[in-house]
Amino acid sequence: MRTHFCGELNKTFLEEEVELCGWVNRRRDHGGVIFLDLRDKNGIAQVVINPDTKETFKLAESVRNEFVLKVTGKVIARASDMINKKIPTGEIEVLAGNIEVLNTSKPIPFQLDSLDTSEEVRLKYRYLDLRRDEMQDRLRIRSKVTHYMREFMDKHDFIDIETPFLTKATPEGARDYLVPSRTHEGSFFALPQSPQLFKQLLMMSGFERYYQIVKCFRDEDLRADRQPEFTQLDVETSFMNEVEITSLMEEMIRGLFNELLEVSLPKEFPSISYHEAMRLYGVDRPDLRIPLKMVDINEIMKDVEFKVFSGPANNEKERVAALKVPGGATLSRKQIDDYTKYVGIYGAKGLAYIKINDDGPSSPIIKFLGEEVTQKVIKQTQAEIGDIIFFGADKTRIVNESLGNLREKLARDLDLFDKEWAPVWVFDFPMFDVEDDGSLNAIHHPFTAPSGDIDDLLDNPVNILSRAYDLVINGSEVGGGSIRIHQSDMQKKVLELLGIDKEEAREKFGFLLDALEYGCPPHGGIAFGLDRLVMIICGADSIREVIAFPKTQTAACLLTDAPSNIPKKQLRELNIKVNLANKS
Ligand code: AMO
Ligand code: AMP
Repeated sequence: MRTHFCGELNKTFLEEEVELCGWVNRRRDHGGVIFLDLRDKNGIAQVVINPDTKETFKLAESVRNEFVLKVTGKVIARASDMINKKIPTGEIEVLAGNIEVLNTSKPIPFQLDSLDTSEEVRLKYRYLDLRRDEMQDRLRIRSKVTHYMREFMDKHDFIDIETPFLTKATPEGARDYLVPSRTHEGSFFALPQSPQLFKQLLMMSGFERYYQIVKCFRDEDLRADRQPEFTQLDVETSFMNEVEITSLMEEMIRGLFNELLEVSLPKEFPSISYHEAMRLYGVDRPDLRIPLKMVDINEIMKDVEFKVFSGPANNEKERVAALKVPGGATLSRKQIDDYTKYVGIYGAKGLAYIKINDDGPSSPIIKFLGEEVTQKVIKQTQAEIGDIIFFGADKTRIVNESLGNLREKLARDLDLFDKEWAPVWVFDFPMFDVEDDGSLNAIHHPFTAPSGDIDDLLDNPVNILSRAYDLVINGSEVGGGSIRIHQSDMQKKVLELLGIDKEEAREKFGFLLDALEYGCPPHGGIAFGLDRLVMIICGADSIREVIAFPKTQTAACLLTDAPSNIPKKQLRELNIKVNLANKS
């Protein structure tokens, strides 16, 4: 229907007759001359309609924003005072000969160029929201990212294999989305939380290198970087150890950033152990763009009179830590009060501080600590005049979460980032989390190999490390994987330690336990959160911004109004009765 795209026209097309198709981005009536900005997937071209083309002019008068047109005309140069340097087509315009209205449009419910449209409206009319340049750009970047990944995987001999969506639960720590079976009354499929078990089975089938760009489904509390259905680049390999897997994947990420952002990430990504990450940054996904580190001051605080500090300093499940913020001495009382409230979200009972002023340290707690201890803290944190030192003293988890999050908040508020990109591998996770009642949970999934043999595992399950790794970029966990258990005995033991008895293990994972006994190769892999990677690459602040049709924070689709009620007949076929009255 057309000869050219709007966005590709420039001075090299002068005097050419063109046929364009697109949407009316804007119509301007300039007393006698009408200008239409015609938009297609490639950009915008200005169309001019002179009153002497009577029919066409009349039609142009009736045209409204978002009408769909076919315009036939000639490319001409704009008058020098009309040149728009901001757009690629800004030196030309198309003098319309003929205009055909291919479709009309009702006035749309929000201005495409408005910055304050609510997310609710944007999601309800997502098909219109996606017309905006920003969304078009993001989805194009997303497509380039997947294209790059496929090429990379292909080049390295990985093969793309699809795995089922209607399947059995794969434990990744969230709730399952269930699908009732009509043919097996009372039974349910679970949508996969990841293809974890299938990709391991594919290693047992001898494929050696698998990948898939695949949807995963998790019913969990949603945040800016979580969606109930999201996409992974899922990878599994045989006969490769953690160093080989992570360096190959690193090469991919480096290439991706180079290709899409012209950014050179470090030749070798730094790595940090889980333990160090928690100690220095309070989180297992440290944002290393921020130069602040937490400093342990347990030793200094063991004998102080200030019980708030000496208590945790003498308890091995608790800690006292300091966070020095360069230049922070200028923070006002009100700002410090606000930060105190902020750490309260994470359970901190207060936020003690010492300011280092020109005339020496000042703080409400110096009188409790004494001059000597204060000086020791200053020395240990290497604080200088103009700095502030914040303190956390409590259960280790509370101190880590509060100071860890405070560190990131301060960095945002005071712009403390010292680099633009900071990838880091986190290694040496503990194998298990210990609940208050002593029961164990897998920190990664239950198929992750421990670093050691069965005896090591049984000797000290609480302290044994796993062979898992996460890739963190700018404080966001963009990927995670591990070397897997490839021996049936070990797998059985790990399930047992997780409190899954033999019968349950058989029922849930019998197929895996069997498969492990037929020549299973050592294997391992990783999965990247595609949405998160694209979010970071686009500089967006939520993964909803890089997903064409995302769900809301309450896991609903405002566009289609899903989830929705199901007709009784359909429920009967599934032997399902909805009984909301029983919900207490
Ligand atoms: P994991 O659970 O760490 O590992 O997931 C891998 C990556 O997927 C992304 N991700 C999410 N993205 C958006 N919304 C969510 N709800 C969500 N949950 C996870 C994260 C995460 O790093 N089977 C293992 C991988 C393996 O061991 O190979 C797995 O799924 O970026
Ligand atoms: P208080 O003696 O309770 O008035 O506390 C003195 C200072 O210590 C105040 O600045 C509190 O915000 C701070 N504080 C109290 N509890 C803690 C804690 N657990 N960790 C860090 N600071 C605290």
